[in-house]
Amino acid sequence: MILAGVETTSVTLIWTLSLLLNNKDVMNKTRAEVDTVVGKERQVNESDLTNLVYLQAVLKESMPLYPAGPLSVPRESITDCTVNGNHIPAGTQLFVNLHKIQRDPKVWDNPLDFQPERFLMTYKDYDVRGQNYDYLPFGGGRRMCPGISFALRAIQFIVANLAHGFEISTPSDEPVDMTQAFKLSNLKVKPVEAILIRLSSSQPLLNIEELELYFLILLFHQHQYLYKISP
Ligand code: HEM
Repeated sequence: MILAGVETTSVTLIWTLSLLLNNKDVMNKTRAEVDTVVGKERQVNESDLTNLVYLQAVLKESMPLYPAGPLSVPRESITDCTVNGNHIPAGTQLFVNLHKIQRDPKVWDNPLDFQPERFLMTYKDYDVRGQNYDYLPFGGGRRMCPGISFALRAIQFIVANLAHGFEISTPSDEPVDMTQAFKLSNLKVKPVEAILIRLSSSQPLLNIEELELYFLILLFHQHQYLYKISP
């Protein structure tokens, strides 16, 4: 349970940060929303997360683009059945290709573009809990991921704190390399390099030790993190 949760959560966080680094307009909108909801006088609380609707859309969009687990957990048919005219004998093992379904151009417009706005407009009623068979970031049915609420809150909380407290960029403003290593988990081939600059030294922040702890648990775990904080 813990292994299933650490790897998927860290991979999702890494891809989300990489997408934000490569899409400055989305990063700026995320920061603007956090600034409006939280203000400059205090740090982000967990209770703020329900009001950060743009940030929720960012995560809804990053998960299908770079799914932590491209395939579902295996299923096995217990009786003979017919699906779309195909005979499936009892005992057949099935893996659902979540990555392909969630970026099917027959369903999604510009499926490879990073457009969180689609979850505020056309797909605003889509949620992540397996109700739409063309959108299954946490799978669906009885074997759907049991860690959804924890994972979403952890990632939203970290991204909200980063956007609120830091200017984040890559060294020399180079785009992040987005090559995926499709294995059981969808790891990045190259680690992310990011520079974090405090936006205001007077602004109360999630303290650095806490932030370090999150990074260590979620990113260092895979040697996927490399960052500098200044000043
Ligand atoms: C963003 C983070 C996460 C993503 C994207 C994710 C995604 C998934 C997906 C796609 C599945 C397969 C579901 C299916 O086949 O229908 C799954 C299963 C599972 N997840 Fe997650 N997960 C995440 C975080 C977590 C966390 C935090 C935990 C635990 C604390 C967790 C525990 C599990 C377990 C135990 C299963 C297997 C369920 C079974 O075999 O029936 N996951 N997850």
